[in-house]
Amino acid sequence: MCGIIGGIYQNNITPILIDGLKYLEYRGYDSAGLVVLTNDNVLQRVRAIGKVVNLENNINSEIINGTIGIAHTRWATHGKPSTKNAHPHICNDSIGVVHNGIIENFLELKAQQQAQNYIFTSDTDTEVIGHAIHQALKKYGTLLKAVQSAITTFQGAYSLGVISPQNPGHIVIARSGSPLIIGLGDNGNFIASDQVALISITKQFIFLEEGDVADITKDSVIIFDKNNIKVEREIKISKLKNWQTSKGNYAHYMQKEIFEQPQAISDTLESRITKDKVLTLAFGHKAEIIFKKIKHVQIIACGTSYNAGLVAKYWIEDIAKIPTHIEVSSEYRYRNPIVLDNTLFITISQSGETADTLEALRVVKKINKNIHSLTICNNSESSLIRESELIFLTHAGPEISVASTKAFTTQLVSLALLSVTLGKCQQQISQTQEKVIVNGLNHLPSLVAKALEQEDQIIELANTFKDKFNALFIGRGSMHAIAMEGALKLKELSYIHAEAYPAGELKHGPIALIDKNTPVIAVAPNDELLDKLKSNLQEVKSRGSQMIVFEEESSKVTPMQDMNILSITNNLGRITAPIIFTIPLQLLSYHVALIKGTNVDQPRNLAKSVTVE
Ligand code: F6R
Repeated sequence: MCGIIGGIYQNNITPILIDGLKYLEYRGYDSAGLVVLTNDNVLQRVRAIGKVVNLENNINSEIINGTIGIAHTRWATHGKPSTKNAHPHICNDSIGVVHNGIIENFLELKAQQQAQNYIFTSDTDTEVIGHAIHQALKKYGTLLKAVQSAITTFQGAYSLGVISPQNPGHIVIARSGSPLIIGLGDNGNFIASDQVALISITKQFIFLEEGDVADITKDSVIIFDKNNIKVEREIKISKLKNWQTSKGNYAHYMQKEIFEQPQAISDTLESRITKDKVLTLAFGHKAEIIFKKIKHVQIIACGTSYNAGLVAKYWIEDIAKIPTHIEVSSEYRYRNPIVLDNTLFITISQSGETADTLEALRVVKKINKNIHSLTICNNSESSLIRESELIFLTHAGPEISVASTKAFTTQLVSLALLSVTLGKCQQQISQTQEKVIVNGLNHLPSLVAKALEQEDQIIELANTFKDKFNALFIGRGSMHAIAMEGALKLKELSYIHAEAYPAGELKHGPIALIDKNTPVIAVAPNDELLDKLKSNLQEVKSRGSQMIVFEEESSKVTPMQDMNILSITNNLGRITAPIIFTIPLQLLSYHVALIKGTNVDQPRNLAKSVTVE
């Protein structure tokens, strides 16, 4: 994920670009740059490694001045963080381009362009965009037509901002799979990846739709749809006021972060899927070669991240048919594990600094040099990111509450993308199957938003726990891992002792715990194990427990005495169900904690990042 800003303004655009980039740093900050079209009609560029402040310092010494400009803050996908890989990229002094996303066929395009004597000065996939537009500009004469033509050759996901001295007074932008908005101002028009970057300049925004291309001047905005037909898009007035890591209108960070999940999930999906496929390059340019030869998967993580990994075990074996093992880091690192060649060693961590997980990675690299490592992590600056061969960032944004919520669901989304990608590389999944899963993923943000609407009913259910000291969570298949996450959230937030079991295991011991003082919480999607789960519910009920069942509408669990059933939603699949059923369990723990009066954001004895053993 990278951040784009640009504009055509009556005065020098540079301060607006710098200010906007600072707001976009949450999207990546390994390098930044900007290019303006000066009054002499030349492209003048400055780039710097690291945060935007470094760029700002460079600019003070160079005096960059022009009314048209585009800028970028980068999170590296192709090519390591360096000045030469920082955007904007310039082709033949005539095209300046900023890009967010991945051009999947860039190697193929690069080979064609090299044969036509185009020079490449970076390791990025973005330069092929500049060269393709340069080539088309020679043929079509206007930047708009050049961009419309060039993008027909791109595969992948992207948002683009382009300027050219050959067509001064215009910025042309394109959106396909990555967000881009237009801000309409009194003294100019602007573009950005996110409205937060422009909120100090304007409140009027146009949100581009998939496939849109727009030709922007200081006084006009003309938009074309994916068929190059001129279209009108609604102008929306933003209510956004304050972009801070404050609690806003929420009582606690945890509540805010629970409600941020639709956005966090769509940020994590951004530029990594199209409407029908997952982009393998989202895992880095070496991923395809590695994923093709993988024979085993070993997942290592702690706590909530472990629970995400447990769901992934079901998904990877089911979808990619690769034997997958999972273990908590603190055990794995000390037990002289056998590590087979061609193992994909996956670490999952919100912080990227969890000592046990990091040490497990170091240990395994010493045991067998022929493994490949991948980390799924929410912190781009962390040790796990630095020490892993492949990296995949969850884009949950900062998580302040100690109890993980949006970090967990975005880990699940990332692991779903991984399962499909492994399945494709191992030739275990058809295009149709991939399309079905991707369709479900594309609907996730709205499904999560719908599940969040149940908060009022969950507040009522939370009262069940007022005078309780124990609880039991049950589920089957991957929902067993979601039951574990539900139990972990309840115990860490409300200090109620909670256990989770695969529902079929109850009769082998834990059923002895059940009495009227031990509420049982079950998660019941309409999947192939539903009938088995229903039998388990009968077993529990006949021991006199109070029960809460979160069901998919079509599951139709038979109501019984002392049983509360809450229907969550419908038409869930093997990927969407675990993610959606997490939501009511998070809300339940949060509201039980409020009833118990515990410190919600900082539960006793816990730390957000466990950097010690
Ligand atoms: C629970 C929670 C912890 C973390 C665990 C691992 O809500 O947040 O269980 O999941 O400490 O931390 P990371 O993911 O940073 O490695």
